[in-house]
Amino acid sequence: MGKQLVSLPSCHSTNDVMAQMSAKNQLHEGAIIITKHQTKGKGQRGNEWNSPAGQNLTFSIFLRPRFLKATQQFELNRMVSLSLLDVVKNFKDESRVFVKWPNDLILNKKKVAGILIENSISQNAISESIVGIGLNVNQTENLLPTATSLQQQFNKEFELEKILLDIVQRLEHYYLIMRSQDFRFIHELYESKLYLKDKVAYYEDGIGKFNGIIRKVYPDGVLEIEDEGGIYKKYQFKEVRLL
Ligand code: BTN
Repeated sequence: MGKQLVSLPSCHSTNDVMAQMSAKNQLHEGAIIITKHQTKGKGQRGNEWNSPAGQNLTFSIFLRPRFLKATQQFELNRMVSLSLLDVVKNFKDESRVFVKWPNDLILNKKKVAGILIENSISQNAISESIVGIGLNVNQTENLLPTATSLQQQFNKEFELEKILLDIVQRLEHYYLIMRSQDFRFIHELYESKLYLKDKVAYYEDGIGKFNGIIRKVYPDGVLEIEDEGGIYKKYQFKEVRLL
């Protein structure tokens, strides 16, 4: 990964540039597009992803995981969030770093990274995947109250290139494991680092707000929350959120 590296001073969204380049057959598997500044960065649930120029990592990686069926898309979310987790946990006591379902990285109860994966499906397999990653590294100003950065947590500046390299190495590691079609280890790891698992928290779904406890994530990524009445509810992405 990263042998083909496109570095742009500025662009709308590295995910969108990647989609355009892919449509023109300009990308090899493992290609990375990175920019100092996104003018229209995309987040999950149609949100914007804002990141001040030059301070954080905003990049996308191009994969062709044909060995994954359409029903296995969540394996990619697991793999990418665990890669980020491995890199960040090296800086901090591991007990403060978690993955919030489906794939936010949480450091000291605040979001430090977000992932936006856009897959194309053909013949029931994932023909290509655009993995967009935004990691707050050296940002100190204008962070949302629910967000943080590495610099805020560790009071020092980080080298963006070094962290990018670390992430790519971890991605390669998990990608190889997944290629062997043995997902057990990755599932166990993901579940063991799941934010608020077995803890009471306040959620909102299509029906209303409720106290619940995350019990598990199914292989296909469905989240199971036990409500106050002991009823187990299952959610797809976007059907529930933590308040
Ligand atoms: C989220 O909402 O948590 C996902 C954020 C993903 C942001 C990254 S930054 C690089 C890539 N390009 C985009 O437009 N978005 C992703």
